[in-house]
Amino acid sequence: MNSYGINNNIFQLTYRSRAAEGLTASKIMEIVGEAVTFNKQHDITGCLVFDQGFFIQLLEGEKGIVEQLYTQIKKDKRHFQFEILSKGSTSMRQFKSWDMGYISMDEYALGEKAELVSKAREALDTISTKNDFTPKVFWYNIFTLLTASKFYKNL
Ligand SMILES: Cc1cc2nc3c(=O)[nH]c(=O)nc-3n(C[C@H](O)[C@H](O)[C@H](O)COP(=O)(O)O)c2cc1C
Repeated sequence: MNSYGINNNIFQLTYRSRAAEGLTASKIMEIVGEAVTFNKQHDITGCLVFDQGFFIQLLEGEKGIVEQLYTQIKKDKRHFQFEILSKGSTSMRQFKSWDMGYISMDEYALGEKAELVSKAREALDTISTKNDFTPKVFWYNIFTLLTASKFYKNL
């Protein structure tokens, strides 16, 4: 708790990785299924995005658990070339109803949601490793896309 009474006890980590070749949509859904089971038990929330052969994932929860999970995820051969885009503490989860939301940006890149996708891609390019608002802008765009689409929601 800081002097303003804000409890910054949620840790958020955003990373990007390159998906292994041959990872089909159904294999990605298997990953999401595994993630949901573990995350639900460990109070982890977040979102996984697939975009042009890359994953971008937000993990949010207790710092030790998020860091341990990220170490575990990095051992997974279904992706490689990891890059942390942002990490830091915050007072509010951005995906509090999702044990792990999932969206493929490619799927919406050409339809009526095309503008939302290009906004999200622009925001992704501006994410700074400083713990500032830039990842929040990207994830807000993704949140909008997710709720405006047929989405994967875990209640
Ligand atoms: C892109 C990607 C994202 C993942 N996200 C999660 C996650 O949020 N939570 C989780 O428990 N596992 C996640 N996994 C799966 C883990 O890497 C790993 O398979 C899982 O923890 C089971 O590991 P184990 O078989 O060694 O127990 C993810 C895997 C990939 C490839």
